[in-house]
Amino acid sequence: MTTRLSFSSFSSCHLCLLVVLALFRSCSSKQNSEPVLCIDAERQALLRFKHGLTDETHRLASWVAENKDCCNWYGITCDNSTGHVHRVHLPGHGGHCPAYSVSYFTEKEYTDASKQRLKGDISRSLLDLKQLKHLDLSCNDFRGIQVPKFIGSLQNLKYLNLSNSKFGGTIPPQLGNLSNLNVLCLGSFHEFNSTRNQQA
Ligand SMILES: *[C@@H]1O[C@H](CO)[C@@H](O)[C@H](O)[C@H]1NC(C)=O
Ligand SMILES: *[C@@H]1O[C@H](CO)[C@@H](O)[C@H](O)[C@H]1NC(C)=O
Ligand SMILES: *[C@@H]1O[C@H](CO)[C@@H](O)[C@H](O)[C@H]1NC(C)=O
Ligand SMILES: *[C@@H]1O[C@H](CO)[C@@H](O)[C@H](O)[C@H]1NC(C)=O
Repeated sequence: MTTRLSFSSFSSCHLCLLVVLALFRSCSSKQNSEPVLCIDAERQALLRFKHGLTDETHRLASWVAENKDCCNWYGITCDNSTGHVHRVHLPGHGGHCPAYSVSYFTEKEYTDASKQRLKGDISRSLLDLKQLKHLDLSCNDFRGIQVPKFIGSLQNLKYLNLSNSKFGGTIPPQLGNLSNLNVLCLGSFHEFNSTRNQQA
Protein backbone atom coordinates (compact mmCIF):
# COMPACT_ATOMS: atom_id res chain seq x y z
CA MET A 1 0.00 0.00 0.00
CA THR A 2 2.70 2.46 1.00
CA THR A 3 4.80 1.55 -2.02
CA ARG A 4 1.79 2.07 -4.32
CA LEU A 5 1.10 5.47 -2.77
CA SER A 6 4.63 6.67 -3.14
CA PHE A 7 4.75 5.31 -6.67
CA SER A 8 1.61 7.18 -7.70
CA SER A 9 2.80 10.41 -6.09
CA PHE A 10 6.09 10.01 -7.91
CA SER A 11 4.36 9.50 -11.22
CA SER A 12 2.03 12.46 -10.76
CA CYS A 13 5.01 14.64 -9.96
CA HIS A 14 6.69 13.31 -13.00
CA LEU A 15 3.62 14.12 -15.03
CA CYS A 16 3.59 17.65 -13.65
CA LEU A 17 7.17 18.11 -14.62
CA LEU A 18 6.45 16.87 -18.13
CA VAL A 19 3.52 19.24 -18.48
CA VAL A 20 5.63 22.15 -17.27
CA LEU A 21 8.39 21.20 -19.67
CA ALA A 22 5.96 20.86 -22.54
CA LEU A 23 4.42 24.26 -21.78
CA PHE A 24 7.83 25.84 -21.57
CA ARG A 25 8.86 24.33 -24.88
CA SER A 26 5.70 25.35 -26.65
CA CYS A 27 6.14 28.90 -25.32
CA SER A 28 9.71 29.18 -26.43
CA SER A 29 9.09 27.62 -29.81
CA LYS A 30 6.21 30.04 -30.34
CA GLN A 31 8.61 32.89 -29.70
CA ASN A 32 11.17 31.57 -32.16
CA SER A 33 8.67 31.03 -34.93
CA GLU A 34 7.09 34.50 -34.61
CA PRO A 35 6.08 35.16 -38.22
CA VAL A 36 7.95 37.89 -40.06
CA LEU A 37 5.29 40.19 -41.42
CA CYS A 38 7.52 42.07 -43.86
CA ILE A 39 7.37 41.13 -47.54
CA ASP A 40 10.82 40.32 -48.90
CA ALA A 41 10.56 42.46 -52.06
CA GLU A 42 9.46 45.43 -49.98
CA ARG A 43 12.35 45.00 -47.57
CA GLN A 44 14.74 45.05 -50.55
CA ALA A 45 13.01 48.17 -51.88
CA LEU A 46 13.43 49.95 -48.55
CA LEU A 47 17.10 48.99 -48.42
CA ARG A 48 17.63 50.50 -51.89
CA PHE A 49 15.75 53.60 -50.81
CA LYS A 50 18.05 53.89 -47.77
CA HIS A 51 21.10 53.40 -50.00
CA GLY A 52 20.23 56.57 -51.93
CA LEU A 53 19.97 58.66 -48.79
CA THR A 54 22.55 60.29 -46.56
CA ASP A 55 21.56 59.72 -42.97
CA GLU A 56 24.04 61.53 -40.76
CA THR A 57 22.26 60.91 -37.46
CA HIS A 58 21.63 57.20 -38.18
CA ARG A 59 17.89 57.42 -37.95
CA LEU A 60 17.73 54.42 -40.26
CA ALA A 61 20.03 52.27 -38.13
CA SER A 62 17.35 49.59 -37.81
CA TRP A 63 17.09 49.37 -41.62
CA VAL A 64 19.50 46.50 -42.15
CA ALA A 65 19.10 43.25 -44.06
CA GLU A 66 19.72 41.15 -40.93
CA ASN A 67 16.71 42.72 -39.28
CA LYS A 68 14.21 40.74 -41.36
CA ASP A 69 10.97 42.25 -40.17
CA CYS A 70 10.98 45.60 -41.95
CA CYS A 71 7.59 46.26 -40.35
CA ASN A 72 9.52 47.02 -37.16
CA TRP A 73 11.99 49.38 -38.79
CA TYR A 74 12.05 53.00 -37.73
CA GLY A 75 9.34 54.99 -39.49
CA ILE A 76 7.72 51.97 -41.15
CA THR A 77 4.24 50.64 -40.55
CA CYS A 78 2.75 47.62 -42.31
CA ASP A 79 -0.78 46.50 -42.83
CA ASN A 80 -1.55 43.93 -40.12
CA SER A 81 -3.19 41.41 -42.35
CA THR A 82 -1.30 41.69 -45.66
CA GLY A 83 2.17 42.69 -44.41
CA HIS A 84 2.47 45.36 -47.11
CA VAL A 85 4.25 48.54 -46.04
CA HIS A 86 1.57 51.20 -45.89
CA ARG A 87 3.41 54.02 -44.14
CA VAL A 88 6.86 55.52 -44.59
CA HIS A 89 7.06 58.29 -42.05
CA LEU A 90 10.46 59.98 -41.97
CA PRO A 91 10.09 63.68 -41.18
CA GLY A 92 13.34 65.33 -40.13
CA HIS A 93 13.76 66.81 -36.64
CA GLY A 94 11.43 64.12 -35.30
CA GLY A 95 8.51 65.92 -36.95
CA HIS A 96 9.17 69.17 -35.08
CA CYS A 97 10.35 71.12 -38.03
CA PRO A 98 12.00 74.42 -37.10
CA ALA A 99 10.67 77.40 -38.99
CA TYR A 100 12.86 78.75 -41.78
CA SER A 101 13.15 81.98 -39.85
CA VAL A 102 14.98 80.23 -37.00
CA SER A 103 18.52 81.55 -36.89
CA TYR A 104 21.34 79.63 -35.36
CA PHE A 105 23.84 81.36 -33.14
CA THR A 106 26.82 79.23 -33.96
CA GLU A 107 28.09 77.32 -36.94
CA LYS A 108 27.95 74.14 -34.86
CA GLU A 109 24.29 74.65 -33.98
CA TYR A 110 23.59 75.09 -37.65
CA THR A 111 25.46 71.96 -38.76
CA ASP A 112 23.97 69.88 -35.94
CA ALA A 113 20.49 70.95 -37.00
CA SER A 114 21.30 70.27 -40.62
CA LYS A 115 22.39 66.71 -39.78
CA GLN A 116 18.87 66.00 -38.53
CA ARG A 117 17.72 66.10 -42.14
CA LEU A 118 18.01 63.26 -44.58
CA LYS A 119 19.75 64.17 -47.81
CA GLY A 120 20.51 62.50 -51.10
CA ASP A 121 18.24 61.00 -53.73
CA ILE A 122 14.83 59.40 -53.55
CA SER A 123 15.02 55.96 -55.09
CA ARG A 124 12.43 54.73 -57.55
CA SER A 125 12.43 51.55 -55.48
CA LEU A 126 9.58 53.17 -53.53
CA LEU A 127 7.43 52.04 -56.46
CA ASP A 128 7.85 48.48 -55.19
CA LEU A 129 5.86 49.41 -52.07
CA LYS A 130 2.63 48.44 -53.77
CA GLN A 131 0.27 49.46 -50.99
CA LEU A 132 1.98 52.64 -49.83
CA LYS A 133 -0.65 55.01 -48.44
CA HIS A 134 1.38 57.48 -46.43
CA LEU A 135 4.69 59.07 -47.39
CA ASP A 136 6.20 61.75 -45.20
CA LEU A 137 9.66 63.01 -46.13
CA SER A 138 9.02 66.48 -44.79
CA CYS A 139 11.61 68.62 -43.06
CA ASN A 140 14.57 66.95 -44.75
CA ASP A 141 17.02 68.49 -47.19
CA PHE A 142 16.87 67.39 -50.80
CA ARG A 143 19.00 70.32 -51.89
CA GLY A 144 16.88 71.69 -54.68
CA ILE A 145 16.14 68.50 -56.62
CA GLN A 146 12.76 68.30 -58.26
CA VAL A 147 10.01 66.23 -56.63
CA PRO A 148 10.43 62.88 -58.42
CA LYS A 149 7.85 62.35 -61.15
CA PHE A 150 7.46 58.70 -60.20
CA ILE A 151 5.75 59.72 -56.95
CA GLY A 152 2.73 60.32 -59.16
CA SER A 153 2.63 56.57 -59.79
CA LEU A 154 2.21 55.64 -56.13
CA GLN A 155 -1.46 55.17 -56.79
CA ASN A 156 -2.55 54.27 -53.28
CA LEU A 157 -1.13 57.37 -51.64
CA LYS A 158 -3.59 59.13 -49.37
CA TYR A 159 -1.07 61.30 -47.57
CA LEU A 160 1.98 62.95 -49.10
CA ASN A 161 4.04 65.42 -47.10
CA LEU A 162 7.14 66.83 -48.77
CA SER A 163 6.99 70.22 -47.11
CA ASN A 164 10.09 71.99 -45.82
CA SER A 165 12.36 69.52 -47.54
CA LYS A 166 14.05 71.94 -49.92
CA PHE A 167 12.71 70.52 -53.13
CA GLY A 168 13.14 72.84 -56.09
CA GLY A 169 12.03 73.38 -59.65
CA THR A 170 8.50 72.78 -60.79
CA ILE A 171 5.99 70.46 -59.20
CA PRO A 172 5.57 67.55 -61.61
CA PRO A 173 2.04 67.35 -63.08
CA GLN A 174 2.18 63.59 -62.49
CA LEU A 175 1.20 64.27 -58.88
CA GLY A 176 -2.21 65.03 -60.34
CA ASN A 177 -2.55 61.30 -60.98
CA LEU A 178 -2.80 60.58 -57.27
CA SER A 179 -6.54 60.18 -57.19
CA ASN A 180 -6.72 58.82 -53.64
CA LEU A 181 -4.86 61.70 -52.07
CA ASN A 182 -6.47 63.38 -49.06
CA VAL A 183 -3.48 65.32 -47.78
CA LEU A 184 -0.84 67.00 -49.92
CA CYS A 185 1.77 69.23 -48.29
CA LEU A 186 4.35 70.81 -50.53
CA GLY A 187 4.95 73.98 -48.54
CA SER A 188 8.24 75.85 -48.46
CA PHE A 189 10.00 74.91 -51.61
CA HIS A 190 13.63 75.77 -51.95
CA GLU A 191 14.25 79.44 -52.52
CA PHE A 192 16.31 78.87 -55.65
CA ASN A 193 15.43 77.05 -58.85
CA SER A 194 17.46 73.93 -59.24
CA THR A 195 19.48 73.15 -62.31
CA ARG A 196 19.72 69.55 -61.19
CA ASN A 197 16.98 67.43 -62.59
CA GLN A 198 16.20 64.10 -61.05
CA GLN A 199 15.60 61.31 -63.52
CA ALA A 200 12.20 60.11 -62.61
C1 LIG B 1 -2.87 45.56 -35.68
O1 LIG B 1 -2.65 44.59 -34.69
C2 LIG B 1 -2.59 45.13 -33.38
C3 LIG B 1 -2.20 44.02 -32.43
O2 LIG B 1 -2.77 42.80 -32.80
C4 LIG B 1 -3.92 45.77 -33.05
O3 LIG B 1 -3.87 46.32 -31.75
C5 LIG B 1 -4.19 46.88 -34.04
O4 LIG B 1 -5.44 47.46 -33.81
C6 LIG B 1 -4.16 46.34 -35.46
N1 LIG B 1 -4.24 47.45 -36.38
C7 LIG B 1 -4.99 47.40 -37.47
C8 LIG B 1 -4.96 48.60 -38.33
O5 LIG B 1 -5.66 46.43 -37.77
C1 LIG C 1 3.75 68.02 -42.88
O1 LIG C 1 5.06 68.09 -42.38
C2 LIG C 1 5.36 69.24 -41.61
C3 LIG C 1 6.85 69.22 -41.28
O2 LIG C 1 7.22 67.99 -40.70
C4 LIG C 1 4.48 69.23 -40.39
O3 LIG C 1 4.75 70.34 -39.59
C5 LIG C 1 3.04 69.22 -40.83
O4 LIG C 1 2.20 69.14 -39.71
C6 LIG C 1 2.76 68.07 -41.76
N1 LIG C 1 1.42 68.21 -42.31
C7 LIG C 1 0.43 67.35 -42.08
C8 LIG C 1 -0.88 67.68 -42.69
O5 LIG C 1 0.60 66.33 -41.44
C1 LIG D 1 0.15 60.72 -65.13
O1 LIG D 1 0.16 62.09 -65.44
C2 LIG D 1 0.82 62.43 -66.65
C3 LIG D 1 0.87 63.93 -66.75
O2 LIG D 1 -0.24 64.56 -66.16
C4 LIG D 1 0.12 61.74 -67.79
O3 LIG D 1 0.73 62.05 -69.01
C5 LIG D 1 0.16 60.24 -67.56
O4 LIG D 1 -0.52 59.56 -68.56
C6 LIG D 1 -0.40 59.87 -66.21
N1 LIG D 1 -0.14 58.48 -65.94
C7 LIG D 1 -1.05 57.67 -65.45
C8 LIG D 1 -0.61 56.27 -65.17
O5 LIG D 1 -2.17 58.02 -65.22
C1 LIG E 1 12.08 79.04 -61.80
O1 LIG E 1 12.00 78.40 -63.05
C2 LIG E 1 10.89 78.78 -63.81
C3 LIG E 1 10.85 77.92 -65.06
O2 LIG E 1 12.13 77.68 -65.56
C4 LIG E 1 10.99 80.27 -64.14
O3 LIG E 1 9.87 80.68 -64.90
C5 LIG E 1 11.01 81.04 -62.84
O4 LIG E 1 11.17 82.42 -63.09
C6 LIG E 1 12.15 80.55 -61.96
N1 LIG E 1 12.05 81.17 -60.66
C7 LIG E 1 13.11 81.67 -60.06
C8 LIG E 1 12.87 82.24 -58.68
O5 LIG E 1 14.22 81.67 -60.55
